[in-house]
Amino acid sequence: MPQKIILLPGDGIGPEVTEAAVSVLTYVANKFNVDISTKEKLFGGVSYDKFGTPLTQETLQACYDSDAVLLGAVGGYKWETLPHHLKPEAALLKLRKSLGLFTNIRPARVYPALIDSSSLKKEVIKGTDFIVFRELTGGIYFGEPRGYDEDKGWNTMIYTKFEIERITRMAFEAASKRKHVVTSVDKANVLECSQFWRKVVEEVANNYPTIELKNMYVDNAAMQIVRDPKQFDVILTSNLFGDIISDISGMITGSLGMLPSASLGSSYALYEPVHGSAPDICGQNIANPIASIASVAMMFEHTFDMHKAAELIFNAIERTLDEGYRTADIGNEENNIVGTTEMTKIIIQKFEEIYNEQALGVFTL
Ligand code: IPM
Ligand code: MN
Repeated sequence: MPQKIILLPGDGIGPEVTEAAVSVLTYVANKFNVDISTKEKLFGGVSYDKFGTPLTQETLQACYDSDAVLLGAVGGYKWETLPHHLKPEAALLKLRKSLGLFTNIRPARVYPALIDSSSLKKEVIKGTDFIVFRELTGGIYFGEPRGYDEDKGWNTMIYTKFEIERITRMAFEAASKRKHVVTSVDKANVLECSQFWRKVVEEVANNYPTIELKNMYVDNAAMQIVRDPKQFDVILTSNLFGDIISDISGMITGSLGMLPSASLGSSYALYEPVHGSAPDICGQNIANPIASIASVAMMFEHTFDMHKAAELIFNAIERTLDEGYRTADIGNEENNIVGTTEMTKIIIQKFEEIYNEQALGVFTL
């Protein structure tokens, strides 16, 4: 049985970067003899334009029948004035919730070749390598009651013990394969919901005696990430704080165009670049495909459990950058500026090179 991958290219640059990612996916799957099938579905603004809804039952059902979903990006000026429930962003939230994708993993890693592209000082970011574990199906994003009337607007930040426990375990498991430090980010000096979060995290932490737990307020965490990002290994946080913290973390790598993500639940998995749909540069073949390609690497890691293949994709990206190839968002006049499709071709070439150097024919996975 092939691994069924549903493609949701979405809006703006989504289709271009997804096409790039699919060529890497197909190439690597073939190389490692993984049987995959891909099927494309409309999602986001393009789905609204055709069907009057950003997420059809048919697209949702296709995701339910999949082994993994690869998403491009959603949204754009065109759909900004729609009522909230018809906006592409609402479809993304519905998809996450429907598939039960409670763990969002966003790695922030510095590529040595890009150390000068960050707005932060080289000495500050050199060697940074941490992962944000963001709770994705709860918190203030989904809490009831919610709404607004003439005089006021309101939302509810709420977390159950069960929701906190399961994301906490994911973060601690990840830390146990890394540097053994979890920093839980909350606002326990003000919010009861955060006080409860902290209590539950501490209880779960007792089951992981080899891992150090640090608690940090979100305002301080935002500052610490730009002051000394090397202090972090795994950051564990709630939905809203994780949204903010992961964008800050993104800038360490120089461009949001570099950041992949995985959203995992107990039955489904969705992979998507952290960046948005960038409608201003869409259709010009200049978008950076690296975040989307790196999301495919995360798919090999988490859905196919093929760490070697994932590592090779990251190595291929790194070598491409080391050799001076850049898309416009991360390049300067000294670099070799290439478009989306060319960047993708070069990454595949570098993959092939490294694969041959390592004589992977004899590797066991
Ligand atoms: C993200 C995005 C989404 C979020 C939006 C588009 C709903 O910012 O994936 O970080 O807030 O989760
Ligand atoms: Mn965000």
